[in-house]
Amino acid sequence: MKRGLLFLAILVAGCGQLKELPSEPGPGSGGDPIDQTATFTRVQAEVFTPTCARLGCHDTLGQQSQQVLTPSRAYAAVVGVPSVEMPQLMRVAPSDPANSYLYRKITGAGITGDRMPQGGPYLSDAQLKLVRDWIRRGAPND
Ligand code: HEM
Repeated sequence: MKRGLLFLAILVAGCGQLKELPSEPGPGSGGDPIDQTATFTRVQAEVFTPTCARLGCHDTLGQQSQQVLTPSRAYAAVVGVPSVEMPQLMRVAPSDPANSYLYRKITGAGITGDRMPQGGPYLSDAQLKLVRDWIRRGAPND
């Protein structure tokens, strides 16, 4: 009995290492209305291209985690694609930001490895909301 409790205590302590999961919907919580202008075109232009597809990162040269986020390849690389680091999750699960590993990576909650962009500076609340609302809209290729 005592050994069982000790094992349970270690298990709970170990799990605690995984950062808490992102609460839906994240910064500015409380069911904030979905921005219908949060299109994939904006996510690509305002986040992926300037910040993620940097040389040696998620560009065609670096291909970090086999994920290329350049304009012609990003959509197919993330929507409905299992994560390398956490294969039980999709990189982007349409309509479900909390279980989209890419959203977790940019918020830093519920991840392994580094928060993205690696080394910072991290995305602003407005950029996080843009990615979150695009996913909440069903992650359309629009
Ligand atoms: C906001 C921009 C970025 C986004 C959305 C992003 C997204 C991601 C995601 C989703 C993963 C995990 C992929 C998987 O498990 O399948 C990842 C891993 C990785 N990314 Fe990024 N990334 C960004 C910027 C960067 C930058 C600028 C660098 C280079 C300085 C970088 C380097 C890496 C590396 C080395 C890994 C694998 C190791 C780790 O997860 O810590 N990323 N990124």
